[in-house]
Amino acid sequence: MNWQALLEAIHHDAQVAFGRGKVASYIPALAGVAPRKFGLALASVNGEYAQAGDAREAFSIQSISKVFTLTLALRSIGEQLWEHVGREPSGNKFNSLVQLEHEAGIPRNPFINAGALVVSDQITSHCANARMQLLALVRDLSGNARINYDHAVAKSEAQTGFRNAALANFMKSFGALEGKVDEVLDAYFHQCALAMNCVDLARSLLFLANRGVDPVSQAEVVTPLQARRINALMLTCGLYDAVGEFAFQVGLPAKSGVGGGIIAVVPGKLTLAVWSPELEASGNSCVGVEALRLFVERTGLSIF
Ligand code: DON
Repeated sequence: MNWQALLEAIHHDAQVAFGRGKVASYIPALAGVAPRKFGLALASVNGEYAQAGDAREAFSIQSISKVFTLTLALRSIGEQLWEHVGREPSGNKFNSLVQLEHEAGIPRNPFINAGALVVSDQITSHCANARMQLLALVRDLSGNARINYDHAVAKSEAQTGFRNAALANFMKSFGALEGKVDEVLDAYFHQCALAMNCVDLARSLLFLANRGVDPVSQAEVVTPLQARRINALMLTCGLYDAVGEFAFQVGLPAKSGVGGGIIAVVPGKLTLAVWSPELEASGNSCVGVEALRLFVERTGLSIF
């Protein structure tokens, strides 16, 4: 397959979805991003790479960071993590509080905000300097030592994160958080503010397409079983409450963020990162979803 020609064609054709959504506006740093940015990057387990458009422009990865923190938590805490967070799709908005009341403060999955806060709590409670460990992990996996937190975004997240603060306090009231609410929130706001580009994302999550082993360094990032579980969670919970429609249209494990990024995994073969900031109502990139739909249509590389 000529991946480069394919990505260039998709980059051209997916632009039909421009104008279908709105750029996230809850913080100035996201509201100010040019709406028609669009990048794509592919990395294969065989060492092939391709990119098109704004693939090297860094953006706020937002909820895609939940894949990295889940990876870090599984590496450091292992199976015990599942005593604190579930593995079912929520069917609700990613920042919803309603299920938590009925389910005694145990979030449905690690990819809704409540679940990500629990994962952050576990990391900050069990790892020394969790914020630095997360940065070290993404730098190591991507091979890009310049990746960093965008501190202005982290500050804005903190200034506007009333709902996340409510979630964290609510869970604390159930005894579902071990650490201090402020420390958990600080870790969470920083992970959302990681700035990465499509090339970094495709490269760094390649271990998910290769049974947990980074195909470049041959290091085991997570066990084969943990890789399978992360992929399963991405498939069932990775695109907020539009995950069923995404499985219907695309059929790949994927994780989106409100910065407009989506990382998708073709198990055994490759990763594909897309970024375009206009979001549909659930918070997923309109052009990004269209690009992934075209990719599957043209390659047949859906898991179904
Ligand atoms: O936590 C928040 O509300 C924002 N930083 C949004 C993160 C995101 O991409 C959606 N979360 N699941």
